[in-house]
Amino acid sequence: MWRNRRRMLGLLLAAVCVSGCGGQEQPREPDRGAESQSGEEGQSQEGQGEEETQVPRFWEMHTREEMIGADYLLYEVNCAGAETGELGVYQSGADQEYGTDQVTGKQWGYRPADYLRAVEDDSGEGLTASRWEIGEDADYKEETGFYYDFEVPAGEYEVTLGFYNPFSARTLCVDIEGKREVDALKILKYKLTETQVPAEVTDGRLEIKVYNPDRGTDAMKDPILSYIVVRAVPEYDGELLDLYLEETQVPEEYADRFTRKSYEAYQESREAALALVSQKADTEQYREVCEQLMTAYKELKEVKVYDTFQVGKRWTDDEGNLIQAHGGQVQRLPVRDEATGEMVEKWWWVGEDKSAGYRGGIRAYSSDNLYNWHFEGVVMRNVDSRAQLEEEEYFQELYGDYTSEQLDNVYACLSSETAVIERPKMLYNEKTDMYVIWFHADGPTEYSDSNYAAASAGVAVSKSPSGPFRFIDRYRLNTCPPDQEDFYPESKGMARDMNLFVDTDGTAYIIYSSEENLTLYISKLNEEYTYLATDPESAVYGVDYVRLFPGAQREAPALFLRDGEYYLVTSGCTGWAPNQARYYRADSVLGEWTDCGDPCVGDTKMTTFDSQSTCVFLADEEKGTYIYMGDRWNSEDLANSRYIWLPVEFDGEGGMHLNYLDEWSMEDFQ
Ligand code: GAL
Repeated sequence: MWRNRRRMLGLLLAAVCVSGCGGQEQPREPDRGAESQSGEEGQSQEGQGEEETQVPRFWEMHTREEMIGADYLLYEVNCAGAETGELGVYQSGADQEYGTDQVTGKQWGYRPADYLRAVEDDSGEGLTASRWEIGEDADYKEETGFYYDFEVPAGEYEVTLGFYNPFSARTLCVDIEGKREVDALKILKYKLTETQVPAEVTDGRLEIKVYNPDRGTDAMKDPILSYIVVRAVPEYDGELLDLYLEETQVPEEYADRFTRKSYEAYQESREAALALVSQKADTEQYREVCEQLMTAYKELKEVKVYDTFQVGKRWTDDEGNLIQAHGGQVQRLPVRDEATGEMVEKWWWVGEDKSAGYRGGIRAYSSDNLYNWHFEGVVMRNVDSRAQLEEEEYFQELYGDYTSEQLDNVYACLSSETAVIERPKMLYNEKTDMYVIWFHADGPTEYSDSNYAAASAGVAVSKSPSGPFRFIDRYRLNTCPPDQEDFYPESKGMARDMNLFVDTDGTAYIIYSSEENLTLYISKLNEEYTYLATDPESAVYGVDYVRLFPGAQREAPALFLRDGEYYLVTSGCTGWAPNQARYYRADSVLGEWTDCGDPCVGDTKMTTFDSQSTCVFLADEEKGTYIYMGDRWNSEDLANSRYIWLPVEFDGEGGMHLNYLDEWSMEDFQ
């Protein structure tokens, strides 16, 4: 059953129709007058008398098995629309004017009126992609509203109404079976509001009216209606629970087709249901476990498995969540295998966690093939309050031995309210067997409340690449030697956009924008990779550090080595907006770097294909495939920034080229 839940519903529709749809009778006109709609009297004629006894009860017409399979859905009306998420068993189309359904034979639909206006809405999808509105020049009367009738057996139903409101807030009323069941429901501006109402039907027809009696002459208060869902209410008991358990069974061998979280939730709900099987329970308990089980079953999320890079598209991890590793770095990293204790290599991706927006910590993901990524955790968290550092175990374990002054510094540098944590990069240090993260650590200082006042490089260490990383400190780095022109003498040793590189001899370097982003620097790190090799005061120019392209204003550096030649890809400085890339080549890290121009081919907008560099790495040693990693920032919604991964091509002279591809795989490059 799990295999194709939708198709199964489709088959059921056919089965239900054979057993319960009856002949193709002529539709009965919805014979109620507008007046009888809103008052108690509306119940009148049909709700009583002989006719009532002739209406079959729901459970006389349908078996529980078929209804569980159909999720008790009788109608799912996408008002004024053509498409529907799912079809209820009594309908064959998204919406229709009141009459006999061509396929199911049921009578249902809306009552036509001159004032009805069908509207499509691009900003919605599925059930919210269309709605009823009131025509602009309609003669709005007291009875104006949206009327629907649905043929149903006698029984209990749950009616859900949805209002996707692109206008100012207004209120709505809903009458069910002629009785006001929802009074002055506020439907918020730009929001979807849903309401659920129980309904008891005795006369074979469920009558719904949506209107706004307070509309008066104010067209801004016109009612709207996006969808109506009618579900039968099951009779919850032990037998039904057994059926639920049977219907929602997923063979164990399929477990890994679903995200771990959704499968665990499913298993949990199943255990709760199984626990109830042998007990005596009341209706409410049965209802709870049955509903939980069905919800968990419906929410089983299949893992999306990638075998190509889908450039600039949504990229989700093995839990189905968007990968949050912006301004990041991918490398083949030695990682201790927990089971064997051996060091193995894995692809490791670290980057900025923008899930909560601009400010966040650092995340890591691992992979065996570069396409599919497993979330390893927020490896360096930011801190919500100074007190949290001393109260929460997570921080206590990291900072238990820090002085109060050091804790103040940790708070200032990692605060979720003020700190800016960008462009993290990780290295493994073989000598210390420690993982070291460097990142652009910024935020206000005592002199300025600008987000980029600190302009420092932060360092954090951990025994494991999945953290937790202990923040050590943030530093200003090397300064312009007195015999050279300093492009920003007002503030010394600044460090913003940054990257790391380990040379063949094991020496590590930090490459970063300094002098108010006007000049790039490369500085040597110490053997532990936790600080500069030499203090800025005693650092020797050309030995411990170099300045690159003074005044050229480059950032987002990505340094890599290929065939004995060093490459440095950079961007210009235009904030989140993309600009033209430029790359440089040198014979050694601290050597002479030559400007080689824009590596992009056919990038007509000159925006690095709408991306900003963050890392270039060797993805296949044998084939010599390098991958360019860039960020396509979405400044309005940083969490939804996309990744641009492109293969780097090299010509006979070692020139590097980037061509845009929408989708590609490692196999495409020999
Ligand atoms: C960019 C930089 C990003 C981020 C952004 C903020 O220039 O590369 O990492 O700092 O500015 O506007």
